[in-house]
Amino acid sequence: MAGQAWDRVPIDAQSIEAPLSRAAIFLVLEVAAGDEATASVRSALGGLDDLLKTVGFRDLEGKLSCIAAIGSALWDRLDPSGRPAELRPFAAIEGAAHRAPSTPGDLLFHIRAERFDFCFELEKLLLDALGDSVRLVDETSGFRYFDARDLLGFVDGTANPVGQDIPEAALVGEEDPRFAGGSYVVTQKYLHDLAAWKALRAEEQERIIGRTKVDNIEIDDDKAERKSHKSLATIEDEHGVEHDILRDNMPFGSAGRGEFGTYFIGYSRRLWVIEKMLRRMFVGEPPGAYDRLLDFSTAQTGATFFAPSRSVLARLAAAGDA
Ligand code: HEM
Repeated sequence: MAGQAWDRVPIDAQSIEAPLSRAAIFLVLEVAAGDEATASVRSALGGLDDLLKTVGFRDLEGKLSCIAAIGSALWDRLDPSGRPAELRPFAAIEGAAHRAPSTPGDLLFHIRAERFDFCFELEKLLLDALGDSVRLVDETSGFRYFDARDLLGFVDGTANPVGQDIPEAALVGEEDPRFAGGSYVVTQKYLHDLAAWKALRAEEQERIIGRTKVDNIEIDDDKAERKSHKSLATIEDEHGVEHDILRDNMPFGSAGRGEFGTYFIGYSRRLWVIEKMLRRMFVGEPPGAYDRLLDFSTAQTGATFFAPSRSVLARLAAAGDA
C-alpha cells in the first residue's frame, strides 16, 4: 500500500480500526424532512459516546463499538458549509448481466461487539433517542462464521490492511484537511444462491474468488482471460500505485427462510477506489468479463456514507446549539 504518508496515527478517528467482531448490526436509516428531525439527529449523534459507555461498560470484554456515518443529502442539512471532497450518493451500476442498485440511506450505524446482546441493546437505545425523526431502511444482523469465512465457504478479509497501513488505506489525510481522520463508507447487502454455488466444483469456486478454499492461498490469474474477484478488486491508480480498502464483511441470514447473505462494508480514504472496484466487478475488465461471484450473489442495496472524525462528529452534533 502506498500513497500520501500519514505522519501520525490520528487519535481522532472513530473506531474504524476496531478488530473484526463476533457480532454486528448494520443499521441504515432515512431522516424525516424538517428542522425538528435534523435537531433530533444532532442530539442522538452527540449522545452516542454516552450510550456506548452505558452499554459497553457492563462487560469490557464485550468490545462494543459503533461507527456513525452520514449520507450526502443529510450531510448538506447538518453542515451546509461543505461536504468531504468525494462524498456523493451511490450511483447504480448497470452491467450487461448484473446490476448494483442504489438505495436510500441518510445514516449508517455500524455496531460491533463480541456479544450480540450488546449490539442489540445499543441499537435499541439509539433508535429510542432518534424516535420519529428516522425511518428504518435496513437492519442486518451479522455473525462471524467459523474461521472468518463467508457463507460461500471462503475466508473473507485476508487482504485487509493491518497496523499502520489501516490509516493509509482507510482514513482521509491532509489532501482534505477539514475532514482528515474521516472515512468513506460503502455498504451493499448481497443474497447468495447457495444451491447454485454448491453445485460448482471447488476448483471452479476457487477460480471465481481467486483464492484456494481450504488453505486460503492466493491464485495467480494474471494471464487468465476471466479475472477472479480478488483481481477485479485490486485497484491501481494512474501511477501504478495499488490502493487498499478496509472491509468488515459479515455473513447474515436465516436457514429457515433459505436466506444466505454477505453484508459488504468497505472503508476507504478515497471513495473512487471502491467505486472503481464496483465498476470492475459489475461491468467487467475488459467490459463483459464481469465478476462471476455476481452470478451467485445479488446486490439488494447500495449506499455511500462518510464516517467523520470524532471532532467533526461533535461539531455536527453541536451546530444546532448555536
Ligand atoms: C458477495 C459479496 C462479496 C463476497 C462474498 C466477497 C468475498 C471475498 C473474498 C472471499 C475475498 C478473498 C479474501 C480476502 O482478501 O478477503 C475477497 C477479496 C476482496 N474483496 Fe470481496 N467479496 C464481496 C464483495 C466485495 C465488494 C462489493 C468489494 C468492493 C467494492 C470487494 C472488495 C474486495 C477486495 C478489495 C478484496 C481483496 C483483493 C486483494 O487480494 O487485494 N468485495 N472478497
